[in-house]
Parts: sequence; structure tokens; C-alpha cells
Amino acid sequence: MACLCGGLFWDGRAQTATEQALKPIENPIEMDLPLEEALKRLNTSTDYKAAFDEAYGKEHITSAMLAMALVAFERTIPPPDSKYQRFIALAQEAPKKAQAMLSESELEGLHLFRTKAKCMTCHEGALLSDNDFHVTGFHRYGLSFEDLGRSEFTKNAQDIGKFRTPSLLGISKTGPWMHNGLFVQFRPMIEQYNAGGFKPKPNRKNAMDPHYPKTTPLLQPLSLSDDEISALVAFLNIL
Ligand code: HEC
Repeated sequence: MACLCGGLFWDGRAQTATEQALKPIENPIEMDLPLEEALKRLNTSTDYKAAFDEAYGKEHITSAMLAMALVAFERTIPPPDSKYQRFIALAQEAPKKAQAMLSESELEGLHLFRTKAKCMTCHEGALLSDNDFHVTGFHRYGLSFEDLGRSEFTKNAQDIGKFRTPSLLGISKTGPWMHNGLFVQFRPMIEQYNAGGFKPKPNRKNAMDPHYPKTTPLLQPLSLSDDEISALVAFLNIL
């Protein structure tokens, strides 16, 4: 069952879409623009002022109005048009026809995704995400480029190294993958899942550290053959 614990961004630090929408504006590695300055610029534009007046009945643009407008736009973005989406749409009315759309390898990949490869344990539902957070091992705890993930936001030691299960819709176009862009190809990523996920060991410095994040027991060796890995890659490529 998808959890409703939600939250947006890889670490879930925004609780709602409106909260999320303003953060990239100020983030120093994204737009790096103080919100105040963004609002000042918008409020000097007669076009924007008129458009906001029409939408919200107020000429003076506030951060809340800006966030609402951005989210209203985001809600109009449809899911990416992919072979998988067309397959799902057809599968309800004409399952046989839908099956015929996929190559043998893509179909086997979909089957493995749901069964032996256990991907659906976490990548489930319409978005292929349980909306939950898991330790999958890519935290570099105690090392350079350490990323503590969800605990940075919750300040809860149990959340150290947890990242949100991302939706897989559109991923054939969105690499490199994982929160840190670690993988540039699907095959090595699936080989990692096949080996039981990434289970880094504490080094001598943090051997006794009770907070060292343990990779989730949901990831276990899968015994996928090379052909089965190829089928999963073929399936990910239609998403
Ligand atoms: C225990 C839950 C879990 C299982 C099982 C799981 N995943 Fe994931 N998956 C995650 C999480 C969490 C991330 C993000 C990890 C990170 O960024 O550090 C992720 C990331 C990914 C990504 C990267 C997406 C992106 O946008 O960067 C892909 C692709 C992926 N998983 C595919 C799979 C496939 C294929 C399987 C089955 C072999 C699988 N996953 C099994 C939880 C899971």
C-alpha cells in the first residue's frame, strides 16, 4: 500500500506542492534568486500584475500567489507520453492488443518488475512509487559527499540515509539516475539491485556508530540471469 507520508523532493522536505514551488527560485544551485527580488521583478511588470489580478483578484503579487500560479501550471502537465503509458491506457480496454504492443523482451521485463525482481515492492501504483522513504545505501555516511537524506529535514536519526522512492514515469529520458545521479546506464543499476542492493560497510571510524544507516531488508539478492537483466532494461526503456 502506498504510504501517505509523502513530501516532495528526494528527502521529502516540502510538505505540499505550493511549498515546493518556491524553493528552486531561492536554491543557490538552481535559480539563486532571493524570493523578495523575484517578487519585486514580477511587481514591476504590468503584464504579470494584470494576469495575477485576473486570476486572484489582487494586483500586488505575493509569494503565496506566485506559488499557487506555479502549481496551477504544474497540474496541467500530463504524464510523459511513453510506450508504457499507451500500453497502460490500452490494457484496460483491450489487454490482448496492449500486450501485442510490447516486444517479447519488454513484456518479460514488465513481468519481472512485478514478480521475481520485486521492483513493485516500492515502485508501485500509477506513479510507480510507494511515496515512502528507504535506505538504499547511497548516503556515503561519514565520507566526502555525505548525504543524510530525509533526516536532514526530520532531524530523526531513524531517517538517516533515507530517500524517497522516485516515480519511474518518464525515466527513459531523465538520467543520470538516483538522487546523486550515480548511474548513467540502467544495466549497472539493475546489477546492483540483483546483488541485493548497495550495502556499504562502516569504516573503522564509524564502526561503533549506532546511527550508521542499514540498507533496507526489502532489498535482497534476486538471482536474475543476464537475459532477465536485459529484459528489465528493455522495460525501463519504455517508461
Ligand atoms: C526498497 C524499495 C525499492 C525497491 C525494492 C526498488 N527500488 Fe528503485 N528506488 C528506490 C529508492 C528509495 C530510490 C532512490 C534512491 C536514491 O536516490 O538514493 C530508487 C531509485 C530507482 C531508480 C532511479 C530513478 C530516478 O529517477 O533517478 C530506478 C530506475 C529504479 N529505482 C528502478 C528499480 C528497479 C528496476 C527495481 C527492481 C529491480 C527497483 N528499483 C527496486 C526504492 C526501491
